[in-house]
Amino acid sequence: MPVNHYEVKNSYVKDIFKLDTPNTTYCIGIVDEGYVGHIYYGKKIEDPGIEHILRIDEMPWVPSKNNRDKSSFLDSFPMEFPTHGIGDYREDCLSVESSGGNFAVGLIYDSYEIINGKNKISGLPSTFGSDKDVTSLVIHCIDEPLKLSIDLIYSVFEDLDVITRSVKVTNNSKDSVFLKKIYSACLDMDNDDFVAVTLHGSWARERHMVESEVNRARVSIDSTRGESSHQMNPFLMIKNADATDESGEVYAMNFVYSGNFHASVAEDQFGQIRMLMGINSEDFKWKLREGDTFEAPEVVMVYSSFGTGHMTRTFHDLYRKHLIRSPYKDKKRPILINNWEATYFDFNEEKLISIAREASKLGIEMLVMDDGWFGHREDDNTSLGDWIVNEEKLKGGLKYLADEVNKLGMKFGIWFEPEMVSPLSDLYREHPDWAIAIPGRVPTLSRNQYVLDITREEVRDYVYESVAKVLRSANIEYVKWDMNRQLSDIGSVSLPKERMGELFHRYVLGVYDLQERLISEFPNLLLENCSGGGARFDPGMLFYGPQIWCSDDTDAVERLIIQEGTALVYPLSSMGAHVSDCPNHTVGRVTPFETRGHVALAGTFGYELDVTKIPKEDKDMIPSQTKMYHKYNDLVREGDYYRVASYSKNGQYDCYGVVSKDKKEALYTYVQVMMRPNYHSRKIKFKGLDPKRNYKIEGEDRTYTGEILMNAGYLVKNMWGDFKSCLIHIMEAD
Ligand code: DGJ
Repeated sequence: MPVNHYEVKNSYVKDIFKLDTPNTTYCIGIVDEGYVGHIYYGKKIEDPGIEHILRIDEMPWVPSKNNRDKSSFLDSFPMEFPTHGIGDYREDCLSVESSGGNFAVGLIYDSYEIINGKNKISGLPSTFGSDKDVTSLVIHCIDEPLKLSIDLIYSVFEDLDVITRSVKVTNNSKDSVFLKKIYSACLDMDNDDFVAVTLHGSWARERHMVESEVNRARVSIDSTRGESSHQMNPFLMIKNADATDESGEVYAMNFVYSGNFHASVAEDQFGQIRMLMGINSEDFKWKLREGDTFEAPEVVMVYSSFGTGHMTRTFHDLYRKHLIRSPYKDKKRPILINNWEATYFDFNEEKLISIAREASKLGIEMLVMDDGWFGHREDDNTSLGDWIVNEEKLKGGLKYLADEVNKLGMKFGIWFEPEMVSPLSDLYREHPDWAIAIPGRVPTLSRNQYVLDITREEVRDYVYESVAKVLRSANIEYVKWDMNRQLSDIGSVSLPKERMGELFHRYVLGVYDLQERLISEFPNLLLENCSGGGARFDPGMLFYGPQIWCSDDTDAVERLIIQEGTALVYPLSSMGAHVSDCPNHTVGRVTPFETRGHVALAGTFGYELDVTKIPKEDKDMIPSQTKMYHKYNDLVREGDYYRVASYSKNGQYDCYGVVSKDKKEALYTYVQVMMRPNYHSRKIKFKGLDPKRNYKIEGEDRTYTGEILMNAGYLVKNMWGDFKSCLIHIMEAD
């Protein structure tokens, strides 16, 4: 059984809960007074006799022995879910405002339940699995004075080193209580020379990996922007300073949520660390009336004693099998061509059909019409909210365009930005109060637009119907759902003042509700999420759509860094990646067309250029690139990911591989970013192969053992010029 309960005799620890995945064990201890302590998370152990490592007896602080120093106990005891205001002065997970105006809350063990499978979290995305895949533990706790019940929920995956956590708080008192902070997970442990790894960036520079030492100064990441953000991703990992891709201990948390978040890790006065993750408490306040329940989003925890590579592959497998629901999740996605970088707003039906006509001859399978097809939108100043096709621009209407594209043997897809409204729009003129704003304060414009108050049902209904009506009107098989600004001026005319602190979270629930409706009515739709590039690249969005636009930066070199950081957590099958024209529109760099194709192969693969205008030698390469996609995509989408070399670290070259689960086939992508004069070839040691098997490299006659390719290596010749690349395709020899 992956979850077991043991009673302990003759110890201050009374109960132990032991959670086991294939290679890891997590232990929780309930102590005499009912505190829920964290005993262990690490390599798998069989023996439950582990209560001795919960530091209690060596200290004179045990409350029942010396009540005077109870706060010393609370301030050092490794907690499963630390609460505010009772004497644990480290960062906590839960605080309230009671009817009496107080902030303290406690958590005392009451009972437990072991459940086959995993319950859904209402209104929120979460990982899933059958009764065979997952077992859950619910530890029921109470705060007696406030009459709160607090459930700590753990789900343990049978075949993956994953434990998920979430929390549920119910108010059983007649008085209302406000939650001021509720995180979803906490890990208390000793500092084992840990370094934190987080993903940071900006527009066009998303998810660059950053390392910070874990010490008394808190490493803290967050978003207060209403989305998970370009700036910081809801992912926090700590690893031993000397851990590598293949060795060392790694603890990681990833938040299945697309709004404001907070995560941190810091060492306390005793050299213990506390790692936390949850909804950001800034501007958060949630009212619980009698009988109300609040469910906090899920945190996915992965522990690996085999370095970061195993952690990455665990996240990839979990998300591919137990988070993404789309019918496309195990399928090749149609190779698309998107007109954004090709035309921006300057297009009509003729232009789009001419792009589609050329594209269809080259093996491209879907035309996606981006921003600018509706209302009077000729630039980013107007019309968001007026989701009515501009028939002056698209003569014959949307159905005509979709039909013409279909006649070419291609699918047709469309762009929306459903959550937004332009001040210059019919929608805003009719319903100015539908925008998020504070009465008496002019809200801040961003990209000339406001955010719709989708916490309101009537606004959501309008938004949903206007999108669905368009989708019902023609054969549209793909939607790019964009969000191009962050939230500010938090105010809603429909929320009473004591509930204004609910707006940020209600907004995210609104996004989820809209996308759930969309995929329910259009179950075969391919949904790609996007937010000004990759500002909403998080597990929450993957519950609704199988892919997310990774970044507006399509430059092949910048993408190496962005895609490396993204792939640290998220599967390649989810990374929107396109070949675009040069000089690159974001950085002005000129890279070979071939390299742009090799780099985009790491993701969903597509084009973002005017195929009627690009140089002939580039266009001539597209048929072989589309063939390359069909040849390798099953492997890229389903294989195991191995990082071999990192341009972000060495400044010269990059190499990653995908290896089939049966280890019979592998593809390594090598990019020589900088040419080095008068150097030998580069020795590359592949990863992930079977050392005992014989392999052939496509284009060569001889065979190699996996052992040689991984330990002795393979020589990749210097290529003439910067930004050159090659694919190394390895297959089992007969
Ligand atoms: C931001 C997206 O990331 C781009 O790809 C494009 O769709 C624009 N928005 C359109 O406004």
